[in-house]
Amino acid sequence: MQHTMLKLANRDGILWITIDRPDKLNALNATVMSELGSVLAEAAGDDEVHAVVITGSGDKAFVAGADIAELNTLGPDAAKELSLRGQSVFNRLERMDKPTVAAVNGFALGGGCELAMSCHMRIATTNAVFGQPEVKLGLIPGYAGTQRLPRLVGKGRALEILLSGRNVTAEEAERIGLVNRVVEPVELTQAVNGLLTGILRNGPHAVGRCLEAVTYGLDMSFDDGCLLEATLFGLCAADPEMREGTSAFLEKRKPNFRR
Ligand code: COA
Repeated sequence: MQHTMLKLANRDGILWITIDRPDKLNALNATVMSELGSVLAEAAGDDEVHAVVITGSGDKAFVAGADIAELNTLGPDAAKELSLRGQSVFNRLERMDKPTVAAVNGFALGGGCELAMSCHMRIATTNAVFGQPEVKLGLIPGYAGTQRLPRLVGKGRALEILLSGRNVTAEEAERIGLVNRVVEPVELTQAVNGLLTGILRNGPHAVGRCLEAVTYGLDMSFDDGCLLEATLFGLCAADPEMREGTSAFLEKRKPNFRR
């Protein structure tokens, strides 16, 4: 499929997806969302893709939100449909069994903050700005921001950010757990690569099962989550990867994991 608003680059198994609409601060219009959905579906089944990074084009914005010009014309049915479609794209991202990182290089507002939260981890630059300003537009977040933000930062902090619509600096985002790390803009690529390269050295099936246990387990009761964990733990023991990892430790050598 031809992509008009995404730039793709696979570097050593890490697929960098750049939202490429800098004149509109990479706002998520229908084309971006549809291209993102299809790229993520392809990436999930592509053996050459071991991890995914999402970032924004230019040095000002990661993504400045859903496209407000498109929102302006929506009626109730179309608005609900847009929300459901966007949620399904972001759910696909969150449920990938390959690690995903948002490289947040500027404004991550509204849908941009929701996109970053749908990644497994977030590294932000010092100039990054987060927020869910939808209430200032007479809206609420529609791409699961009301659900993911409280899960990441807690209900009280999430409600303050959602109800005020205020900006959250990179420093505050790190303090409240909205991002994993803040780095200088020139260090972003290296920081993301460093994080993912370390993860990709580990057993690939174990990494995938860990993602599955956390992603699905968090939405279950504690007991059901523990059962899911035990089932996935059992599956690990049926996998040559676990023999190799444990044998390598016992033989005092580095494991040789295969994909
Ligand atoms: N949807 C559509 N277009 C957007 C956009 C969005 N979410 N965010 C920015 N743009 C467009 C602007 O309309 C402008 O287009 P134009 O040059 O054709 O007029 C261009 O991107 C540059 O934005 P501008 O507002 O001029 O940049 P700025 O540096 O003055 O301000 C922001 C940056 C991020 C503070 C400001 O663009 C903003 O508040 N954006 C909307 C954020 C938002 O409410 N997001 C949630 C949407 S649900």
